[in-house]
Amino acid sequence: MPPATTPDSAQARLAAEAVAFVRQFHHERPGPVDPEQRIREVLAEIDRTGSYRHTPEELAFGARVAWRNSARCIGRLYWRSLVVRDLRHVDSPDEIAEHCFEHLRTAGNGGRIRPVISVFAPDLPGRPAPRVLNQQLVRYAGHRQPDGGLLGDPAGAQLAEQARALGWKGRDGRFDVLPLLVRSGPWARPQWYELPDDAVAEVRLSHPEHGWFAALGLRWYTVPAISDMALEIGGVHYPTAPFNGWYMGTEIGARNLADADRYDMLAVVAERLGLDTSSERTLWRDRALVELNVAVLHSFQEAGVTMADHHTESERFLRHIAQERRLGRPTPADWSWIVPPVSGGLTPVYHRYYDPVDPELRPAFLPRPPW
Ligand code: ARG
Repeated sequence: MPPATTPDSAQARLAAEAVAFVRQFHHERPGPVDPEQRIREVLAEIDRTGSYRHTPEELAFGARVAWRNSARCIGRLYWRSLVVRDLRHVDSPDEIAEHCFEHLRTAGNGGRIRPVISVFAPDLPGRPAPRVLNQQLVRYAGHRQPDGGLLGDPAGAQLAEQARALGWKGRDGRFDVLPLLVRSGPWARPQWYELPDDAVAEVRLSHPEHGWFAALGLRWYTVPAISDMALEIGGVHYPTAPFNGWYMGTEIGARNLADADRYDMLAVVAERLGLDTSSERTLWRDRALVELNVAVLHSFQEAGVTMADHHTESERFLRHIAQERRLGRPTPADWSWIVPPVSGGLTPVYHRYYDPVDPELRPAFLPRPPW
């Protein structure tokens, strides 16, 4: 075993966080194993190697609690159901890509979306683990146009540029799925992988009353899988741990397709609806926004793909808070992220405050530190 290369202070911090995590694990899931025994084991392993390996049960528990601790997520009622794929032994870019595609198939599940996380190799002292560079496993490219404009999703412009520099050829469409970029280390050139068709399910958007809506050619993918956050459990960083839930309609209808710096569709929809756009006071934006959201919910429903509406998901979140409270646990939440971007005041989550967000709370999903 090579000597640990971690500085003493970092190692002491790791040890403290490891102990706190093992205690939490045994406190929430009392079992036959003596926590003190496990703590001695973990500390000895840290002394010897500079890190330690979670048991599969610790890993699954840690990932689920990281979800439970996510202050910006309204969907936490189902945190216990997270499917945890233990892929810590996988560390070649080819295999990582293949397992990410399998993640999307498992999560997509023919439309019955399952919350899934795939946990790849952790960072080790002096040995950073490979990373997926994409923000989400599925996202649309933004293509810079010769006239300075942008075709597609502006949120996918930077990655598209990076992928092109590596040799990827986009199809110059509005909804081109970006390739997956995997980089084995700070010194390595990223490798890119086109997503296979059977890993990417999409829904074409139509409106229950307006026949013209389908001709707008809008669509969205079914699985929102965040791939640019590190999972931190007991002091160990897993920098590649893509996770997904299902969509709430407003994420697509009130943000991705509506925001001025995303697909910016409100003026087009308003025009097709025949609204008077000459004054803000006609509320043409608001009316277009509602119809866009109707179309999103309707289309996912018709396609048989799991999607929550913001009224139902708000009500579930308050149930989650009540349930956690009965178990003696707070539910830290960030009001500005929890309240839906349409009809906020119509949902019960608007009319209250939440337990304060604690940036020290662990396990957690965190922005990845640069390598
Ligand atoms: N808001 C992001 C998007 O529109 C996805 C964030 C995660 N959402 C979720 N429902 N789990 O793509």
